[in-house]
Amino acid sequence: MKTRVTKRVFKRILDSIQAGKKRYIKISSAHLSGISYLNIGDAGLEFLEDLSRSGLKFKVRTTINPGCVDYNSNIKCDSEVMEKQERIIRSLKNMGAIESLTCTPYLFDNPLRKNQKTAWAESSAVLYANSIIGASTNKEGSLTALASAILGYTARTGVHLRNGKKPRILFEYNGELKDEVDCGLLGYVMGMKAGAEIPYLRIKKSTGNILCYKQLLAGFGTSGAAPMVWIENLTPGFLRVKKPRRKIVIDRTELEEQKRILSEEALPFQGERRIFITGCPHMSLEEIKSFHETLRSIDRLSVEAWIFTSRNVYSEAFRKGLLTELFEKGVRVFKDSCVMHCSLKKEGAHVITNSVKAAYYLRGSFRLKTTLKSLKEFIKEYGG
Ligand code: F3S
Repeated sequence: MKTRVTKRVFKRILDSIQAGKKRYIKISSAHLSGISYLNIGDAGLEFLEDLSRSGLKFKVRTTINPGCVDYNSNIKCDSEVMEKQERIIRSLKNMGAIESLTCTPYLFDNPLRKNQKTAWAESSAVLYANSIIGASTNKEGSLTALASAILGYTARTGVHLRNGKKPRILFEYNGELKDEVDCGLLGYVMGMKAGAEIPYLRIKKSTGNILCYKQLLAGFGTSGAAPMVWIENLTPGFLRVKKPRRKIVIDRTELEEQKRILSEEALPFQGERRIFITGCPHMSLEEIKSFHETLRSIDRLSVEAWIFTSRNVYSEAFRKGLLTELFEKGVRVFKDSCVMHCSLKKEGAHVITNSVKAAYYLRGSFRLKTTLKSLKEFIKEYGG
């Protein structure tokens, strides 16, 4: 019964698209969020299984966000969670999804080109696609991205409209960006001020480092609703875009204030389990190389370190021999899973992270203690 209803609903949407094509645009790629069983629960699982049983297939290249389990890791989770996460992935694969299980699909699994029209969910990936690559996607929700993947069309709104990418606020930052945490904090502060408006960003002492911008955009997507940031000297076409009159200058003290809010003030009590977590968004090969390089200067770490990446980057890093040395130093490398890993929710820990987005969600959703530290600060403090 449910299957027939689902088919009918999608048939009706498809008919309305045929009837009013002007309101929709054709897409060539989709990326789905809402994959983790810890987020969507039994209702989401049933919905996806129902869709999958109905025989619907994705019409465009479709990748999926990470779940909450790495099945090859020896850190196990509740067996029910593991079984249900697997069923979610199976349903999406049946519909034609690529088993990418990553929030950085633009690196390997779903590469984009400038001006490509897509329907992506996952805020950090949307921000990267629009602001760094110059593609076009709104910040889709899990369900709208899913519907677009099935239909091959998305609503002609937001960035798909003429002037839909026009920046409305000019942000100026004159302070220092000394590491990736500063970059994430700057994005986070901008997102709080911009709301749903697209900003244009001018940084006086630009780092020129793409990894900094990856954290900046992930931080922006955490607190703001806009799908892109025009970054001076970086976003394709930034020279042609009309700079907004409304200007907001961001001060370094605003970054420090948010850092304090997202970090534990109190010293950890003795025996408290501390884990350093990095890879939110998933680490690229370059980031793993640089982590590997930094670790060379030390013999061991005095706390656990977990890194998260995609299965493609994992294989590549393994092939290059980078992971073996990380394992020897006690680093755990997870693939297929978000930093919101199934084991963390239950066991609890004080998480040290270089990702503003990770700190925000681990604190807000898993109720964990968090402290923001850059990779270099972490190695200095915990490397022996
Ligand atoms: Fe990716 Fe999860 Fe962070 S989906 S961006 S690792 S919160």
